[in-house]
Amino acid sequence: MKIVLCITGASGVAYGFRLAQLLKEGGAGLSIVVTKCGRELMDAELGPKAAQELKKFGKIYDENDFSAPFASGSNPPDSVVICPCSLKTLSAIANGYSNNLVARAADVALKEKKKLIVVPRETPLSTIAIRNMLLLAEAGAVVMPACPGFYSRPRRVEDLVDFITARVLDHIGLSHNLSKRWGHV
Ligand SMILES: Cc1cc2nc3c(=O)[nH]c(=O)nc-3n(C[C@H](O)[C@H](O)[C@H](O)COP(=O)(O)O)c2cc1C
Repeated sequence: MKIVLCITGASGVAYGFRLAQLLKEGGAGLSIVVTKCGRELMDAELGPKAAQELKKFGKIYDENDFSAPFASGSNPPDSVVICPCSLKTLSAIANGYSNNLVARAADVALKEKKKLIVVPRETPLSTIAIRNMLLLAEAGAVVMPACPGFYSRPRRVEDLVDFITARVLDHIGLSHNLSKRWGHV
């Protein structure tokens, strides 16, 4: 399974980091793009060692490196996941403005009918953001806001992170035992 994981400058970098860890454990071939703002949020939210640790999980690409294999429709991955996804990146994708590798990878996923999963994090949402999410959903993307549920009775921040990570893995099609499913609580 070939996966491209993009981490952009929205709060909640822990979701993306955990996803990278689990995708690696699950045997996925992982390519990772971290935007400049994503890197800043990673340093702020996870500490200065996180960026270095991320390299253990997959090959890292610069957000301006359009020579990456997945920048071309001739070599698309199975899924592109943008987690967390800033509203700026969401807007770029929804409006076809592929000015960096993240937006281009997402554009390729949509045009090649591969899976695109975006995990936006913002609240409240403007009508512009809601419209952009609608555009993406209509284009075939899975729009999965970082809104963890509480029916599994989370005790730790890690439980909340795993709730969202589990839902993303479900959509990628990678099996896991992360969070209990409803009916098995
Ligand atoms: C501390 C901090 C927190 C931010 N949190 C969010 C957020 O949760 N959601 C969001 O859409 N943008 C957030 N932003 C704004 C984005 O980082 C900004 O729009 C940036 O241009 C996104 O660029 P990128 O998508 O290329 O990473 C935050 C910025 C900072 C500095």
